[in-house]
Amino acid sequence: MDGNGRWAESRGLPRHAGHKEGVRPVRMCIEECARRGVEALTVFAFSSENWARPSVEVSSLMQLFLEAIDREVDELHKNKVRMRFIGDRHALSVKLQARMAATEQLTAANSGLKLQVAVSYGGRWDILQATKKLSAAVASGAMALEAVTEEVFSRELMLSGVPDPDLFIRTGGDYRISNFLLWNLAYTELHFCDTLWPDFDKPHLENALRAFAMRERRFGLTPGQLNVAREGETSQRA
Ligand code: IPE
Ligand code: MG
Repeated sequence: MDGNGRWAESRGLPRHAGHKEGVRPVRMCIEECARRGVEALTVFAFSSENWARPSVEVSSLMQLFLEAIDREVDELHKNKVRMRFIGDRHALSVKLQARMAATEQLTAANSGLKLQVAVSYGGRWDILQATKKLSAAVASGAMALEAVTEEVFSRELMLSGVPDPDLFIRTGGDYRISNFLLWNLAYTELHFCDTLWPDFDKPHLENALRAFAMRERRFGLTPGQLNVAREGETSQRA
């Protein structure tokens, strides 16, 4: 979700005004994904690197997260959304950590959209924390080195239990991943759009979904192999 600062600055407003305005499209995406039966949605709210921003901006964002949780949680719960926060929580205030834990507890048994909010998150940090956990298990003898497979490794990542994303959307006109879900994005379709995040509305989301539907996903196979697999599926259905 990129472009909040530029959205505000182009209007002569403080950057915070852009972040505040950025809450609306988050709500729209959650509602649309839930309505369409999307299994999981992960939003990148604050990166490991964002801590280096001016302290007024960091603290206003933390305040915004608190307010947004308090305001939205009941409605999300009513709509059966299961909410999780992914990232390095140690750096967050005790108050925010408590709200996050309470929200996760409240919505844990919900059967609807799996919503992950990445706060203080970095893809490299995620891979490193998983590596450390598994290294400790191997070093102590609790786990054999040979037992560390891709599947076992991915279970230690923050998105454990959530399928790899099919589609990645970045707004704001830059064409990069910026340390988002590095492991999980291996075969994700990437969609970049120039719209600044506060202006991202339903037609923009529909556009991204339409573009995604046109992609051929080969997962390393040849087009010929895909055709054989598709024919198999069709005859199975028949
Ligand atoms: C994204 O908008 C929101 C956060 C990183 C919290 P930016 O704040 O990066 O907006 P720009 O890129 O400066 O316009
Ligand atoms: Mg930015």
